[in-house]
Amino acid sequence: MDSAVSVVVPAVKVTALSKTFGCCKALDDVSIDIRPGEMVALIGASGSGKSTLLRHIAGLARGDGDRGSIEVDGRPMQTLGRLAQGVRKNRSGIGFVFQQFNLVGRLPVFTNVLTGSLARMPLWRSLSGFFPRAERELAIEALERVGILDKAWVRASALSGGQQQRAAIARTLVQKARIILADEPIASLDPESSRRVMEILARINAEDGTTVVVSLHQVDFATRYCPRAIALKTGAVVYDGPSAQLTPDLLRNLYGSQAEELTAARSTAMSSAAFITDPDVLSAAIAVH
Ligand SMILES: Nc1ncnc2c1ncn2[C@@H]1O[C@H](COP(=O)(O)OP(=O)(O)OP(=O)(O)O)[C@@H](O)[C@H]1O
Ligand SMILES: [Mg+2]
Repeated sequence: MDSAVSVVVPAVKVTALSKTFGCCKALDDVSIDIRPGEMVALIGASGSGKSTLLRHIAGLARGDGDRGSIEVDGRPMQTLGRLAQGVRKNRSGIGFVFQQFNLVGRLPVFTNVLTGSLARMPLWRSLSGFFPRAERELAIEALERVGILDKAWVRASALSGGQQQRAAIARTLVQKARIILADEPIASLDPESSRRVMEILARINAEDGTTVVVSLHQVDFATRYCPRAIALKTGAVVYDGPSAQLTPDLLRNLYGSQAEELTAARSTAMSSAAFITDPDVLSAAIAVH
């Protein structure tokens, strides 16, 4: 046997996951493997199941009970609709970034970012509000990396949307997350802020080897920053492959009557002079209309 062959444990492994809400299937037999260090875009029209899938991977929701499982870093998160025993501990390695940032607005940015360390602190210490020096240094370093160190003592609510999202990403750095799940992190941002947020995620992915799964409405941002795309349609995976190979037909199939929304997102993104789009992908996307 070739000893050079090593088995890579997937960062995320979803097997035959379905989720039914009432009469509707939000996830329909989803199976995906994401290797450590990948940066993957999750795309699909509104209601296609992107948030639901991310929430399941994060251990925040349970799938249908008849079949299906999720492992993160080789550790079970859920099987047959039941959360695994160590799910809380496993969750601490997953940083979740939300569209609406989820910061505590009245607290300084620094404190918000420091809360990323709570999961590895004993309860008494987190209740005392006293954070060890090493954690505080980590927070400073994280703020510096995302370019908002000068905002450390400003109330989070006083930051712009893009700055708040960068603070939320800094929180995942302090958390020492091995996997970042970002659910529409740029949906409420202007094109320049969107570009900066995506660049920060890409840099963390490249420099730290952090696995990043990011749901996006904007196909051009997906192709620009994520080598791999997974496309969902009514809860089912309809494409999983290089984002550069997303075809006009597939995009038309994915977005259907929502194609106009996609156009709007794209034209806003295009208004950013600094934004460069792969010409092939751009022409493919334009051909949709
Ligand atoms: N808690 C819930 N109860 C009932 N139905 C739900 C619930 N959460 C999601 N759904 C349904 O599941 C489907 C998938 O929703 P989901 O929010 O995952 O889509 P999405 O791709 O994230 O959409 P968007 O791009 O608008 O954020 C939708 O039909 C939605 O209405
Ligand atoms: Mg969503």
